[in-house]
Amino acid sequence: MKLPSMRTGRLSLRPVLEKDLSDLVRLIDDYDVAKMLTTVPHPYALSDARDWHGQTAVEGRDGERAFAIDKGQGLIGVVSCGKPDGTPEFGYWLARRYWGQGIMTEAGKAVLAWHFDCSPGAPVLSGALDENRASLNVLTKLGFTEIGPYRLSIRSRGETLPATRMKLEPEAFERMREGNHERG
Ligand SMILES: CC(C)(COP(=O)(O)OP(=O)(O)OC[C@H]1O[C@@H](n2cnc3c(N)ncnc32)[C@H](O)[C@@H]1OP(=O)(O)O)[C@@H](O)C(=O)NCCC(=O)NCCS
Repeated sequence: MKLPSMRTGRLSLRPVLEKDLSDLVRLIDDYDVAKMLTTVPHPYALSDARDWHGQTAVEGRDGERAFAIDKGQGLIGVVSCGKPDGTPEFGYWLARRYWGQGIMTEAGKAVLAWHFDCSPGAPVLSGALDENRASLNVLTKLGFTEIGPYRLSIRSRGETLPATRMKLEPEAFERMREGNHERG
């Protein structure tokens, strides 16, 4: 599937390009980012980025459906909503210096709206470590609700840790969007 490029108030969401990979390596090679993500190694090398890009982010392949988050000066994070095993899974990370400005909520809203336009009906799954309050907050703000506890294996830590599985029904996402419109 060819990914579109989309605009939000502050952001451009677009396919990840080969030329983004050096920025991606610099920003994701931060233990405070990697330690929250399941498959990301630490340290992170350009070869890791090339492998990931080749497998999942290249336009035309039906995989992770990963968008670069760009504020105008290059990639600052990634948000994806794809179907690794048939169930759409929502995942994301943002460079540390951009945390706490509502960027992931803004990016997530756009990518989920695109996802539900393309694939209406089916819910989207996600999850976060219980220690990752910021991520659980992002999911809740987007309309996700709790399914229950599970455990996530974190590659950079070599550990499996307690987490919360979350689900987004298309109706809940619509309600969240309508509520935001009403509040203006
Ligand atoms: C999780 C992450 C994407 C959040 O991005 P962000 O742009 O800072 O998120 P937002 O600003 O849109 O929303 C974060 C919310 O959590 C809140 N928050 C942030 N840190 C928090 C903390 N330590 N405890 C409780 N709440 C926290 C923020 O106040 C905000 O809520 P609010 O809008 O109600 O105030 C970012 O921290 C990140 O990339 N972390 C490392 C990778 C990661 O965790 N990826 C997700 C794996 S599941």
